[in-house]
Amino acid sequence: MKALINSLGNGRCIGILLHGPPGTGKTLLATSLAKEFNSSYFIIDGSPDLDRRDIEGNWELFNGDTKFNHGPLTRAIEDANKNGISFIVINEINAIRESEQISLNSLLSESHINLISKGFERCSLKKTSKLVIIGTMNKSVLGINKLQEAFEDRFLVCPEITYPTKQKEIEIAVKLSGCKKMVAETVVDAARQIRKQAIKDFSITKIFSTRLIVNFCLIVSNMSPDYLRYNIENVIINKLGENQEEKKSIAMILDGKLFEDNLKKYLVPYSQAKSSINAGLNSPRAPEAKIISNFKSKVEKYVFEL
Ligand SMILES: Nc1ncnc2c1ncn2[C@@H]1O[C@H](COP(=O)(O)OP(=O)(O)O)[C@@H](O)[C@H]1O
Ligand SMILES: [Mg+2]
Repeated sequence: MKALINSLGNGRCIGILLHGPPGTGKTLLATSLAKEFNSSYFIIDGSPDLDRRDIEGNWELFNGDTKFNHGPLTRAIEDANKNGISFIVINEINAIRESEQISLNSLLSESHINLISKGFERCSLKKTSKLVIIGTMNKSVLGINKLQEAFEDRFLVCPEITYPTKQKEIEIAVKLSGCKKMVAETVVDAARQIRKQAIKDFSITKIFSTRLIVNFCLIVSNMSPDYLRYNIENVIINKLGENQEEKKSIAMILDGKLFEDNLKKYLVPYSQAKSSINAGLNSPRAPEAKIISNFKSKVEKYVFEL
């Protein structure tokens, strides 16, 4: 994708549509690409409530005067014109209403937008600049909005992003979460088992994504062994299931695989468990939210190494 962006001439908008299941690194790939180009990027989270004025910019009354608030599209065009390149990342692009896709349509095919709030004043990309628009979406879920063909056709390439191979997924989990390889192997095995089961059993709606694997490995390997010894079952069930029904099915699948026992074996070694038995339940527990937020900042720089 880097080569593709480099090979295309300036003065145009380059549309890339990444599609695939949730939690497979689509957004991460998009923002990491922007960083590879040392470029600014603007994120739009697609939703049916999004208005054209939200993304193009709008007027606001300010101290008795009016002032134009730029939207992500106008800001990205300005940045690209100034610095040579800019990125727009649109998550769940299919959730944007058709009527609000007009500005993206003209940006993708004509490299300009006609600002609705400014009497259709034209805002254009310079001949010497590039603007990369990366949309992400999950095509496979039933009942989810489809992209209009005319809109989809404006994207230059539409690669599908799927789950990595088993070995790659273990490597990702170890590298990003810093957990032991055995832990990653156990979790990846369980994830693949649940994914397989989910194809047959529609009551399982929470797919064990790569994101969930990384977060799960990160959480269990940052919790104190003493805490985990007594609570691992809760951690597994709460992290992996969305509702009671789902938690039950997941627990059943994992039970057969001795998931909990194996995890315990690697995370709470017997000798350690024995020696610290008196520390018991009082040992401090790192809160999940803190573990995750400390971790987010280090992820992107690893992606291109992987
Ligand atoms: N293929 C992958 N490579 C590296 N990390 C991944 C991958 N897939 C998922 N992750 C992990 O999951 C997190 C969220 O992924 P994200 O980009 O939001 O997925 P998506 O946009 O496909 O739903 C990433 O920050 C990373 O920790
Ligand atoms: Mg995403």
